[in-house]
Amino acid sequence: MKRILITSALPYANGPIHIGHLVEYVQSDVFTRFLRLTGKKVIHCCADDTHGTPIEINAKKLGVTPEQLITKYYKEHTDDFKAFLIDFDSYYSTNTPENKKFSDFVFNKAKEKGLIYTKDVEHAYCESCKRFLPDRFVKGKCPKCGAEDQYGDVCEACNAAYDTVDLVEPFCTICKATPVRKSSMHYFFKLSALSQELYEWLTSNENLQKEIVNWVKNWIKDGLKDWDISRDGPYFGFKIPGEEDKYYYVWLDAPIGYIASTENYCRQHNLDAMKDYWTSKDCNIIHFIGKDIVYFHYLFWPALLKAADLNLPDTLLTHGFLTVNGEKMSKSRGTFLTARDFLKKCDPELLRFYFAGNLSRKMNDINLDEKDFKDRINNELVGNISNFAYRVLSFTEKNYGSKTVKIQQDALTQELESMHDEIRDLYERCDFREAVKRIAHYSSLGNKCFQENEPWNNKDKSHGVVSLCVNIVKNLCILLKPILPKRTEELERQLNLKDLKWTDLGFDLGEHQIGKPKALVEKIPETKLFEIGSGFSKLNIKVGKVLSVEDHPDAEKLYVLKVDLGGEERQLVAGLKGYLSKEEIEGKHICVVTNLEHAKLRGVESQGMLLAGEKGDKVQILTANESQPGDQVFIDGVKPKDEKIQFKQFQQIKMTIKGGKAFYEDSVLKTEKEEVACDIEDGAKVS
Ligand code: MSP
Ligand code: ZN
Repeated sequence: MKRILITSALPYANGPIHIGHLVEYVQSDVFTRFLRLTGKKVIHCCADDTHGTPIEINAKKLGVTPEQLITKYYKEHTDDFKAFLIDFDSYYSTNTPENKKFSDFVFNKAKEKGLIYTKDVEHAYCESCKRFLPDRFVKGKCPKCGAEDQYGDVCEACNAAYDTVDLVEPFCTICKATPVRKSSMHYFFKLSALSQELYEWLTSNENLQKEIVNWVKNWIKDGLKDWDISRDGPYFGFKIPGEEDKYYYVWLDAPIGYIASTENYCRQHNLDAMKDYWTSKDCNIIHFIGKDIVYFHYLFWPALLKAADLNLPDTLLTHGFLTVNGEKMSKSRGTFLTARDFLKKCDPELLRFYFAGNLSRKMNDINLDEKDFKDRINNELVGNISNFAYRVLSFTEKNYGSKTVKIQQDALTQELESMHDEIRDLYERCDFREAVKRIAHYSSLGNKCFQENEPWNNKDKSHGVVSLCVNIVKNLCILLKPILPKRTEELERQLNLKDLKWTDLGFDLGEHQIGKPKALVEKIPETKLFEIGSGFSKLNIKVGKVLSVEDHPDAEKLYVLKVDLGGEERQLVAGLKGYLSKEEIEGKHICVVTNLEHAKLRGVESQGMLLAGEKGDKVQILTANESQPGDQVFIDGVKPKDEKIQFKQFQQIKMTIKGGKAFYEDSVLKTEKEEVACDIEDGAKVS
């Protein structure tokens, strides 16, 4: 039997897993579970993608080492995958000795074959940061349309693509200095030399999605450029053999992480990644990827594999992007949900069911629509499937002492039997959307059978037909196992069966004693699921340092504060007199709502509002004393808007204090450095 190796693209160890990522990991997990269910020898490998400039710079910004940062995300990512029941056989990291070994192996093989050469190239360099700047770290005006604040590769306003050095008035996004052009020696991989071989692989491989093959064929026809595979230090990555300050570009060692992760599995199972997978004739390699990384996986990666005499992928499955309520996930709309945000709102298996119900072999984008989600769960999963199972099992419990009897094959069992193969084919093609449709239909046939036979009117003569329905429930359990691993395990328990396999599909349960029935899935209530912090995003809160506090000339309860907001000074009027002394406020780093309409309070202008917690007759200010004036106060996943808001709107945004911290809904208010504090009892309101 052939070994099958499934991989999913390696998420960057530079941020949390979000629900967009989960489209892919759910897809590959469902497929792996399906293959395993049908008795295939399959493993699913993945890893964190840990190298590159953004991770290095982000670590520096957070005051930790890159190793510390990637360790933190490794833990978070593996926890998130577990919560979503994504069951990797190996979840590894690209920052490992195995990955260094395989990267050098591939590099040296390519070198031996004359596929590596060096050449001087010019890149943007920041003299104050002492580093070369990748595209995303240089901004300036678009050389074509003049739009401001554009990245070094493409203009978001007019879509023009250009070289970083062509930006008008460029600046380093780290320190704002003007970068210079600087020349440096780089290593190149001769991609062009492999054009012909890549073309043949693409056009002869029947498993690849046609739409993408055509797309990639055109790139080859237009002529492939050689690939710059080195970066100068400072860089977080692997040093190139024989070099002091040059590193493999992250996209060289990232896919090699697939091999390192395989090796990690093999080490624990007495196998060999090279012998048993990457050079074996009896191995199928299947990569799941998103449409944004097609170039890397259809050209660079197969080229590297060819150069190293390793197996090329047998299948690549490319999915589209996730949209939420019809639009790109967006922080300012509150629809950028991390895996954790989702967990707070909803059961992860429901997302698996919804994604599976939308995933096909096509590269279409997938829309997570609030209403559609609730309809699919409430009608299809709860109304149709889960209710059917519960009805049948509890009827059996009540009326037949939890026992089933042998049943006769009839027209219905034959029809259902033929659907088993159909659904298997759909799973095999990764057409989960159609598979879910067929499974729902399968369940409605069961429902119809139960309903039409009215066993409640004729209990004595109906044991056979109810037993048939129990068989159908058992089959549904098997058919749904890849998508709902936990719920089906629970259903197995209710059926008093264990480890059901695809071969257990059929109608030969015979005389059997079932377990205790229980509803499998509950309806989703009418609450907003996929918009978080939408109220909070209206606020633009910044850290301000209190420079002075004076009495208001004309009001007993008011102070007039001067506050430094980082390069900007503002005057605030605050009702703190009688609660806090001037000394208790002066010099503090407070939180100021900066986009409130300015107002005159008893004749003195207030150019914003400071936030304070209030409970009973106590008032305490919100502070962020480790942060600098001007630092943004935010909650995870939400980007502030800069539009002015009115006091009335502000009052509708409810924030509270819990454990000495300020919260909006379940999210803590924070700056890049710390969580915002307020020394007051739980439940205090922020105003
Ligand atoms: N680190 C690279 C992959 C290296 S593979 C050798 C990378 N990482 S990523 O974190 O940006 O994305 C990981 C996978 O998630 C990619 O396949 C990507 O296409 C997918 N997705 C990321 N955002 C997505 C959506 N919003 N929707 C669907 N898939 C998305 O790319
Ligand atoms: Zn700089």
